[in-house]
Amino acid sequence: MTAGNADAWSMPGVLGFFDTERRTTAQVYASEWFFLKDRLREGVGVLDVGCAQGGFASVLEENLTSFGYTGIDISAAMIERARTRHPRQRFEAVSEADWSPLGAETFELVLVLGILHLHESWRDTIARAWTHTAGSLILDLREHDGPTIEDKAVSSLRMDFGGNSAAYAETQVPYVLVNSAEALATVRRLTPGARRISHFGYLHPVSGSASCPVAEAMANVWCIER
Ligand SMILES: C[S@@+](CC[C@H](N)C(=O)[O-])C[C@H]1O[C@@H](n2cnc3c(N)ncnc32)[C@H](O)[C@@H]1O
Repeated sequence: MTAGNADAWSMPGVLGFFDTERRTTAQVYASEWFFLKDRLREGVGVLDVGCAQGGFASVLEENLTSFGYTGIDISAAMIERARTRHPRQRFEAVSEADWSPLGAETFELVLVLGILHLHESWRDTIARAWTHTAGSLILDLREHDGPTIEDKAVSSLRMDFGGNSAAYAETQVPYVLVNSAEALATVRRLTPGARRISHFGYLHPVSGSASCPVAEAMANVWCIER
C-alpha cells in the first residue's frame, strides 16, 4: 500500500539512518559499481528512483564535474531532506503509481536500487522506469531458487534498522524474494526492445531486519540497455 510504505520510510529514525548511509562511492555495493562505473560519463543525465536523501547525487559529485540528477521518492520527508542536502539538484515527491512530475522525460541512466524488493508494485515500477530510460536502466532484485515470495505476512522488513522502539519493529514493508528464472522472464517482459540485458550479483545473508523463510538471497543487479 503506497501510503503505508511512504509512512514507513518517513519515520524519524529511518530518515536519520539515511543521513549517513549510502552517500559515498565507498558505500556503493560492488555489484552496483560493476555496472555504474562505466556509465559515469561527463554530462550524463540520471534519474534516481527511490532516491532517499539523494545519496547517489553525492556519489556522482565524487566522480564527475558535470551531470544532471533528478531524484524521486514516495517519502515527502526524504525529499525535503534531499533538497536541503543537494540544493542544486532536482527532487520530486511522487506516489508509487504516479510519476507525472517527470512528464515524458527520458534519462541516459536510470537507477532503481534498494527498493524493488521492498514494495508490492515492483513490476509496475520496473515497467515505468523503462519508459523513462534512454540508455541504461540499473536495478536490483533479491532472488532465490525457490518460488517467488511476495506475501508480506510471509516475508517482510521491519523498520527497526532505523529506530529501536516497538513502533519501528511493528512497522513493516514487504521483503520480496523473486525466483531467479522468473526474475529473468520478468525483466525481459518489462523491458521491451532492450538491446542487452546483463546481471551480476552474489549470494548474501538477508537483512538482519528481515523476517523471511530464507537465510540467504542473491542480491542481483541488472543492467538493461536500449
Ligand atoms: C532502502 S532505501 C534505498 C535508497 C537508495 N535508492 C539506495 O539504494 O541507497 C528506500 C527508499 O526508496 C523509497 N521508496 C520505497 N518504495 C518506493 C517506490 N515504490 N517508489 C519510489 N521510492 C520508493 C523509500 O521512501 C526510501 O527513501
